Amino acid sequence: MNFKSELRWSDVTPKAAFLNRRQIMAGAGALALASPAYAQTPPSPYSTDEAPNAREDITGYNNFYEFGFDKGDPARLAGDLTVSPWTVVVDGMVDKPGTYDLGDLLAGLTVEERIYRFRCVEAWSMVIPWNGIQLSFLLDKLGVQPGAKFVAFETLVRPEEMPGQSSTFIEWPYREGLRIDEAMNPLTLMATGLYGDPMPNQNGAPIRLVVPWKYGFKSIKSIVRISLVDKMPPTTWNMLQPNEYGFYANVNPEVDHPRWSQASERVVGSGLFAGRKPTLPFNGYGDQVASLYAGQDLAKDF
Ligand code: MTE
Repeated sequence: MNFKSELRWSDVTPKAAFLNRRQIMAGAGALALASPAYAQTPPSPYSTDEAPNAREDITGYNNFYEFGFDKGDPARLAGDLTVSPWTVVVDGMVDKPGTYDLGDLLAGLTVEERIYRFRCVEAWSMVIPWNGIQLSFLLDKLGVQPGAKFVAFETLVRPEEMPGQSSTFIEWPYREGLRIDEAMNPLTLMATGLYGDPMPNQNGAPIRLVVPWKYGFKSIKSIVRISLVDKMPPTTWNMLQPNEYGFYANVNPEVDHPRWSQASERVVGSGLFAGRKPTLPFNGYGDQVASLYAGQDLAKDF
C-alpha cells in the first residue's frame, strides 16, 4: 500500500494515531489506518522501569555534530532541517533493495514504546522513552541475504541545513554499523519518536538507531542509507580515533577510555550534587546481549 500522498511520517506515532482517529471521526476521510503501525502497543518487556529524564534534558543536551560541537547547538540549529519528505536507500545483500519513502519503508511495522537507559562514551547517562520499530522486523521485511554479516548506516549530508558539516573534522556522512546478530537482537531499535511525539530534529529526526547496550555514538541519527554488507564497515569515531573508539563500543566499566574512567557515569538532570552512579556492563542489558560476545576478548574488541 502506498501512503505517500496522504500520510506524513510524523503521523506514525502513538500520539498521532490518536489524532488521526479523531480526524476520521470528524470525517477527515479515507486515510487507511488499519495498518498495525497505528496500534497502541502494551508496555514493552524490554523497557526499564526507571523514571525517564525530563523532555528538556533529552532534547536540550545533545551530540549531533552535523549541527555543531556544543551540547546546545543541535537544539538551537536543527529546527530547520527538512525531515519530510525523507528517503532511505537500502542496498547491498538484501532481497528488496531500493530508494524508499520513509512511510513505505516502515509500512506494516509496529511502532512500540521502549524506555531505555542511554550511556554516552563521555560518561553521562539518561533514561529515554523512545518510540520506534524493532530493527529485526524491518530487516526481516527487507530480506537479509545469507552472505550479509554487517549492517552499515549513514546519516544525511546536507550542509545547507546542517551548519556543522562545514567542519572537516569529521568526514561526512556520519557512519555507523552493527554486526548482523547485534542488529537482529530485539533490543535494537529504529526510533522514530520520543515521549509519544515525532522525533525532535536534534535527536535524529525522522529516524535513528538506538542500541542501548552500546555507547551512544553507535546510535546514529537521521539515517538515509542502510546497507547489508559482508565486511565490517568503517564507522565515524573509529575512523577518527581508533585507539579510543572501537567498532563494538559495548558499555564496559572495566575498559576505560584512554583519557577517562568508564567505571561510573553522571546522570544528566539529577542535580548538581547527585554525584555519579556505577556503570553496569552492557549498560545493564547483559542478560539480553552478553551471549553475543561469548569467546570474544572485550578488552581487545572494545
Ligand atoms: N549521529 C549523527 N549523525 N551525528 C552525531 O554527531 N552523535 C552520537 C549519536 N548519533 C551523533 C549521532 C553521539 S556521540 C551520541 S552520545 C548520541 O547520538 C546522542 O544522542 P542524543 O542527542 O539523542 O542524546
